[in-house]
Amino acid sequence: MSLKRVGILISGRGSNMSALIEATKRPDYPAEIVGVLSNRAAAPGLDLAAAEGIATTSLAQSKIPSQDMFDDMMTQVLESWGVEIVCLAGFMRILGPDFVARWSGRLINIHPSLLPAYKGLHTHERALADGANVHGCTVHFVTPGLDEGPAILQAQVPVLPGDTPDTLAARVLVEEHRLYPEALRMLASGEIRQLTF
Ligand code: GRF
Repeated sequence: MSLKRVGILISGRGSNMSALIEATKRPDYPAEIVGVLSNRAAAPGLDLAAAEGIATTSLAQSKIPSQDMFDDMMTQVLESWGVEIVCLAGFMRILGPDFVARWSGRLINIHPSLLPAYKGLHTHERALADGANVHGCTVHFVTPGLDEGPAILQAQVPVLPGDTPDTLAARVLVEEHRLYPEALRMLASGEIRQLTF
């Protein structure tokens, strides 16, 4: 079976990206990472990817006036790498509807909450403020609504007495690094697919 060609979009440290790269080193893994694209040139994840011999590109959004133009440039880069599946991994930019439609069913994201709870930012702070007993993360297909697409996998962690946003985020992150490679494996192998949105 040929390996599915995966592009990863990042904005920052890239720990989920690294977890995906590590997973692709398993001999039975059905995907390879062919490129990493960042909307921030200073994203530390770019250096991590380059050190693994993976193609990297950054697009400076401040120099590209329109959302559509930026999204089209991203698609051009991804197509130049022959990408079949796009993984968002800490990509801090909302994607336009044309980009989402272009990659529909082949575009997935990891979000640090048990969706549909806590869409958007500051999920750990909000879970703590609510007094939640459980928290976690979700890998989901991306659809036009923010953090609204169908879930592929979720993982729960307990919220413990004395937790701060940082301690809770660290506990969730361990699960993110386990969950994302498994969800990508399921999509790349054809075990799952998105039916509609
Ligand atoms: C992760 O918590 C992810 O769930 C969220 O942004 C964070 C990115 O972290 N979307 P990293 O860049 O993967 O380390």
